[in-house]
Amino acid sequence: MMRWIVTAAGFALLAAAAHQEAALKDLMPKGMVIGVALNQRQFEGGDAAAGDIITRHFNQISPENVLKPQPTHPAADRYTFDAADRYVQFGVDRRMQVIGHTLVWHSQTGAWVFQGTDGKPADRETLLARMRDHIHTVVGRYKGKIHGWDVVNEAIEEDGSLRKSPWQVGIGDDYIARAFEFAREADPGAELYYNDFNLEMPAKRAGVIKLVRDLQARKVRIDGIGNQAHWRLETPTLEEIDTSLVELHATGLKVMYTELDVNLLPNTPRGADPAVANPYANGLPDDVQRQLARRYADVFRVFLKHRDAVTRVTFWGLSDADSWLNRGRMNYPLLWDRQRQPKPAFAAVVDALRNAR
Ligand code: G3I
Repeated sequence: MMRWIVTAAGFALLAAAAHQEAALKDLMPKGMVIGVALNQRQFEGGDAAAGDIITRHFNQISPENVLKPQPTHPAADRYTFDAADRYVQFGVDRRMQVIGHTLVWHSQTGAWVFQGTDGKPADRETLLARMRDHIHTVVGRYKGKIHGWDVVNEAIEEDGSLRKSPWQVGIGDDYIARAFEFAREADPGAELYYNDFNLEMPAKRAGVIKLVRDLQARKVRIDGIGNQAHWRLETPTLEEIDTSLVELHATGLKVMYTELDVNLLPNTPRGADPAVANPYANGLPDDVQRQLARRYADVFRVFLKHRDAVTRVTFWGLSDADSWLNRGRMNYPLLWDRQRQPKPAFAAVVDALRNAR
């Protein structure tokens, strides 16, 4: 009996060690990079443990916040690039694929952008000039260093219609085409992407495909569609993920999973019973760990089944401690835990990659 326990523990340790050895980036199929969204502490060296894991396992990085309009362009006459320069240099120093996120969005954009001189909303020409100036300045600064840009983010509503954002209201429907044109002018060598979430929903996906077809008809360059993939254990289903991938790829564009995480917490109203709203405050039960591992292995198998279409998988954060999904609660959506130790989900992804080789 005793000998059996030692053997089992031995196997688990061996398995963990075997998985510890594996570097995710070395297991990816040719043509598919694997990356992570970085927060400021991570690319400024304030989080050495994270820095080591990022350098070891990933060959692509995305900026969680530092390259968004608000932090880079806080006022009409002021750009701030110090932190953004350090983000880009972190990737360049490690020969990683560096992504820019995002140039045109209805969120994290200074209110001044949409204000006219007389306190009224800015008119079409003013907004186009501000958009052009921002894109040319930011994209121009990192020309040749940033591989690809999320040019426009989250412009489609759940019903597939164009979101009535301040950009759409102020400029009109063609603001998206103009943004891609400005980005092309600023760096003809950079890849240009449209990025959004819930693309497994047929109506929304149809809206995104219509947007892409419209750009293609206008001969406006677009290279890929970013599916944010903020998913849950059960939703979307693997069939929905597969169908969405095939339909998005049928546009002829690359498909990327750009903000992958798996939310384990229920949507609860403010003031809900903490036991319900924050069920894992004291740690994640083993059975949920196993469910998360199975979920990650399953979705990676879909990506690998379509390795001809999927060119990138990026996690939206490195460890559970870094995730935007905590928001005052304890969430566990990623591959590394709060002690920066790989979780069973990490081992499951390694196995899925190894089995696909
Ligand atoms: O930088 C300020 C800091 O100065 C201030 O003290 C602090 C307190 O309010 O706020 C800090 O800004 C926060 C910023 O993250 C940087 O940490 C903002 O409040 C907070 O809203 C912002 O959250 C980001 C969120 O986008 C904003 O919409 C999340 O970190 C980021 O993960 C999230 O990422 C988005 C993608 O860009 C697009 N897709 C969805 C995804 C999740 O919402």
